[in-house]
Amino acid sequence: MNRRRLLAAPLVLAACSRATADPVATELPPLKSITSFPLGVAASGDQFTDPAWARLVRANFDRITPEWEMKAEAFAPAGGGFDFSAPDRLVGAALAARLSVFGHTIVWQEQVPPALQAIDGDRRTFAAGFANYVRGVAGHYVGSLDGWDVVNEAVADDGSGLKTRNAFMANLGPDYIRLAFEHAREADARTPLLLNDYNLEQLPEKRRQFLRLAENLLRAGAPLTALGTQTHVPADLPRGAIAACLRDLASLGLPVHVSELDVSLARARGPERPAAIVGETVDALMALPERQRFGLTIWGARDRDSWLVRGGRRDAPVLFDDAGRPKSMAAALVEALR
Ligand code: XIL
Repeated sequence: MNRRRLLAAPLVLAACSRATADPVATELPPLKSITSFPLGVAASGDQFTDPAWARLVRANFDRITPEWEMKAEAFAPAGGGFDFSAPDRLVGAALAARLSVFGHTIVWQEQVPPALQAIDGDRRTFAAGFANYVRGVAGHYVGSLDGWDVVNEAVADDGSGLKTRNAFMANLGPDYIRLAFEHAREADARTPLLLNDYNLEQLPEKRRQFLRLAENLLRAGAPLTALGTQTHVPADLPRGAIAACLRDLASLGLPVHVSELDVSLARARGPERPAAIVGETVDALMALPERQRFGLTIWGARDRDSWLVRGGRRDAPVLFDDAGRPKSMAAALVEALR
């Protein structure tokens, strides 16, 4: 270590001991002003009533993904039919703030609409109900979304194939995925339709199955137009994991959406490298041809907005700290684009 670095060391250490705050000293440009792909953020309706959140999001992001309002639990009431009032309010607030909206999610085995649960076991009725459900959701938002996660989290973690223990599989078999894409397209001729999943960067076997599923859909003529990789990762994720994942996903020629990025310090066991992970993600997206960059979405604006700190848990997984100051992860995004 030379003399200057030696003298600077205590300062650096002082900064590290406040690691959870981690604001960067220098001013950053509005993040969305420097990206050549849409930069998104997870949002919920009540956040638009927080002026600090709204200012931060409008300045830095191009679009939002509803964290909750566009899930079946929010718009498919127990009695059947739809109640789109919560998602409609959110879409209205976003568009009024000049943010576009990415839809998430139509078919997700975690949230089978109650009206479909009620006909579980009656395959023909289920098939008709499923078609109505998918067309109803996709049809409601024609022309107002940047894209839809049509099917979310369908692939099993162990790489054996699809998740099997859900009503969609039980009643329609593996073809439910193709049917979901077909029905969404019947209701909406143009909006990009995505297949989205998690841990693809960490589980290569799962990634292979995800790609096989996407390939089969394309071969069957299904209207699959882009691929989403959630990218909820621990801060000790090995170097190169995200790049390899994006390269593989892009090999089918479709645009790729990094759809829910967050970098968890709490889930890390080894040395933490949150800023490097953000930098690598941006580099990997930029390595794709421009038409294959569907976008990068961060799963929360400030650390305190993240799902990873709910219930009193401690973490600091996103680009801005609790006070809305950019962290080293935000600086890494800027640096990667310089
Ligand atoms: C999470 C939300 O962030 C939470 O607020 C909610 O309680 C549960 O869902 N994969 C997904 C997202 O596709 O919808 C999940 O979002 C996070 C994991």
